[in-house]
Amino acid sequence: MKNSSVILLLLGLFSQSCGINSANANKEKLKNPIQKDTHTHSNCDEVRTIHLHLDLDVNFKEKTIYGVARHQISKHSCDTIIFDIKELKIKEVTLGSNKETPTNYAIGESDALLGQALSVKIDSNTTQVNIYYRTTKNTEALDWLSPELTTGGKYPYMYTQGQAILTRSWIPIQDTPMNRITYSADVRVPKGLLAIMSAANPIKKNQSGIYHFEMKQRIPAYLIALAVGDMKYTSLGNKCGVYSEPELAEACRYEFADLSKMMDAAESIYGEYRWDQYDLALLPYSFPFGGMENPRLTFANPTLLAGDRSLTSVIAHELAHSWSGNLVTNATWNDFWLNEGFTVYFENRIMEALYGEEHAAILALIEFQDLEAELERMKSSEHPEDTRLKLNLDNRNPDDGMTDIAYIKGAFFLRTLEAAAGREQFDTFIKEYFDTHAFKTITTEEFIVYLNTHLLEPFNIPFNTNEWIYETGLPDNCIRLNSDRLNQMIAFANRINSEQTIFNGKYKNLKRGDFISQEWQTFIRSLNPSISIKLMNEIDAQLKFSTDGNPALKSDWFCLSVKSGNKSMRPAAKKYLNKIGRRWYIECIYQACKDSKDPDDLKWAKNVFSTAQNNYHFVSKNTIRDILYN
Ligand code: BES
Ligand code: ZN
Repeated sequence: MKNSSVILLLLGLFSQSCGINSANANKEKLKNPIQKDTHTHSNCDEVRTIHLHLDLDVNFKEKTIYGVARHQISKHSCDTIIFDIKELKIKEVTLGSNKETPTNYAIGESDALLGQALSVKIDSNTTQVNIYYRTTKNTEALDWLSPELTTGGKYPYMYTQGQAILTRSWIPIQDTPMNRITYSADVRVPKGLLAIMSAANPIKKNQSGIYHFEMKQRIPAYLIALAVGDMKYTSLGNKCGVYSEPELAEACRYEFADLSKMMDAAESIYGEYRWDQYDLALLPYSFPFGGMENPRLTFANPTLLAGDRSLTSVIAHELAHSWSGNLVTNATWNDFWLNEGFTVYFENRIMEALYGEEHAAILALIEFQDLEAELERMKSSEHPEDTRLKLNLDNRNPDDGMTDIAYIKGAFFLRTLEAAAGREQFDTFIKEYFDTHAFKTITTEEFIVYLNTHLLEPFNIPFNTNEWIYETGLPDNCIRLNSDRLNQMIAFANRINSEQTIFNGKYKNLKRGDFISQEWQTFIRSLNPSISIKLMNEIDAQLKFSTDGNPALKSDWFCLSVKSGNKSMRPAAKKYLNKIGRRWYIECIYQACKDSKDPDDLKWAKNVFSTAQNNYHFVSKNTIRDILYN
């Protein structure tokens, strides 16, 4: 059964029927039509995976994972179980655990976004389905790096990215956050490399190159993750540490030294950390995100190694996901703000506990500036309705929901609620929310009911919840923050904007170290793009934004360079875009080139992208291609 058109014909062989379960499920759907996850083909409301065992061979020569996905499934009365797959080659499907017998299966039509439905014939006694498969060169979740793209330069590296709907491209699975599973895995990798997963992990390489993993807590499919490379483990205290290439171990030890304090702070706010161990995996530069909250093993971008601990709020963020997102999970990608809004709010609480109110306010204000800019942009975009917290991403890429709305509007909704309820009361409420919904998924509608019955009604708090969640834009009662330190930076930039000069006299001795990077970020963002090239270069000569350190500042600086037509920054910008694949950092530079009135900027950007894209993960490649070519 190699030919998928033959397989298609088999579809008719077995119709999906699910007896009593199906009738109940349909009634449930009618009562609450919003519960449906439209980004999966699976029928997990009828029959679902309970436990997954993966048997995998990671082959770097062929850039392919060969595997078997063994699904233990729930009690059911179905004759079909449907999995999601995308760009996978299915070799065979069998039923049973001790003795396996081949079964019929059918592969549905391919959807560019959702991939295909893999429908497997089962009977009511079936308890295990085994899918023999391999990945292909079009597998979107996987990033294979040749040794030159690693810091050590000697060994290759590979990692996966599952969120939002990419897990189906490396594992045949019911790829919906609505289902939670435990998993285990046996992974074979070339000798000399270490494999780690979002599970209980080894801390040392072994001779065999075979590693065993157990994830005993139930998680959604998007949180299954694997990384393979030359890695060393550095403990950072009780129950936490970091995996990195050996060359970066000391830099990690310094940068993430406060990790264990972050964990203490998080636990003291919202209660016990429920995943036993919390480690970081420092990935290569192509990693498209600042961080990814894979349970027990946050994937972190090497740009976080700024050398001054200035970007560690990303770690606070991923750690916070151990409660918001991983413990209590958005039921569908339309409820994404429940993951990210809560996490940005919690992240800031952790930063406040460690570094004080003023510092936390500066971080939150910068986010608020981002939100205001995003709201402005989205107003005139193709989807102005996306400024609602509750999204409708049917027939769209769930990735479209990854905007400042879910993150920052979501967080400011909670801040505003906190102000209305008082911190103590609000903390008690959120802690109970996590406890009550632990290891479950939740929709926005269920959250609203919970909010009403456990906070707003009992304490008689009037609140415009529906406006926050179902209306566009930002409600008037949104809490406003203020920071004198940032105000001063804005005033400073404004003086430069009006006088078009800076280093006459007074500012000659100004150094980068005089302000923290978030203050500089506000400064750069407040400079007017009509700034003269001469002045920009003078500022850069003194403050070294284009050359020195902090990748977040570089991103803003190069963005301003494009907007102000400063082509002398191009070599440094090109170097940056070739090295770094973190989407939010590179996106704004490419976007500025696209928006530029000078057609030469777009030409330059396309040229840079043509080589730089080899260093990007599919996620970033896809976004940048869309910007430049659509
Ligand atoms: N879970 C997200 C990353 C993500 C979201 C991947 C949606 C795929 C689809 C992660 O926790 C995140 O938010 N990362 C941010 C961190 C920042 C907000 C502190 C990032 O990558 O920059
Ligand atoms: Zn997040």
